Amino acid sequence: MQTVFITGISRGIGLALCAQALERGDHVIGVARNPQASPDLLKLQNRFKELKIISLDLCQEDAAEKILEHLFEVPVIDVLINNAGIYEHGISKQSFLKSFEVNSYVPFMITEALLSKLKRSSSPKLVNVSSVMGGITDNSSGDAYAYRSSKSALNMIHKCLSLEHSWLTCLAIHPGWVKTSMGGEGAVLLPKTSAHGIWDVIEKIRPEESGAFKDYNGHHLNW
Ligand SMILES: NC(=O)c1ccc[n+]([C@@H]2O[C@H](COP(=O)([O-])OP(=O)(O)OC[C@H]3O[C@@H](n4cnc5c(N)ncnc54)[C@H](OP(=O)(O)O)[C@@H]3O)[C@@H](O)[C@H]2O)c1
Repeated sequence: MQTVFITGISRGIGLALCAQALERGDHVIGVARNPQASPDLLKLQNRFKELKIISLDLCQEDAAEKILEHLFEVPVIDVLINNAGIYEHGISKQSFLKSFEVNSYVPFMITEALLSKLKRSSSPKLVNVSSVMGGITDNSSGDAYAYRSSKSALNMIHKCLSLEHSWLTCLAIHPGWVKTSMGGEGAVLLPKTSAHGIWDVIEKIRPEESGAFKDYNGHHLNW
């Protein structure tokens, strides 16, 4: 049994990660902006007393403080999964700023807030849900400027965190192309398949691999 903190559990990959952790007996604390709007999340809440939902917009100015207030009685977090993300269309300044706020800054802010709780774990892991679209070497189709650059920034933040905190096993992961609101109907993977792979990679990653960028099958990816 471990204690897992996941952002973006209302739907998609985050919801599937949350469900699978609960099914194997973990305690899960998850952030959802509006839990009442997610019937699947409410079903999980009814089924598992081990699920604690924090209802919060992560872009709120005092988001870190609010999270810590909710975690007052939770001394240890074993796995932090920064999953919440957005895909902004267009090239406006607003699209860039919002993408960087949610996809790059929020994961950093949450990690900083939870470092002391992660440090109390015997096997602390930080997982940043990134994307191959944040990779520069393998970018062959361009476009999606705001999303791509915000995930590249997340990769850099991830690498810096892994260097600063050698006690923490840090993993940046690409979940595959997944059928969610973001991935769309044409995507090839179900959220549960992606989540299953992600959990497998999280379980297998060794401390000496910290800072890695892998996909949900455990294959190494280029930055
Ligand atoms: N789907 C894919 O093919 C794919 C591929 C590569 C990477 N990814 C990455 O995988 C992660 C999950 O994506 P997904 O496909 O599951 O997307 P999704 O279905 O659109 O879900 C996104 C999640 O993030 C939450 N979120 C967004 N902004 C938030 C905020 N300000 N505060 C709190 N929660 C917020 C959403 O909450 P609400 O319900 O409140 O909006 C939702 O739970 C993202 O980081 C994404 O970039 C996805």
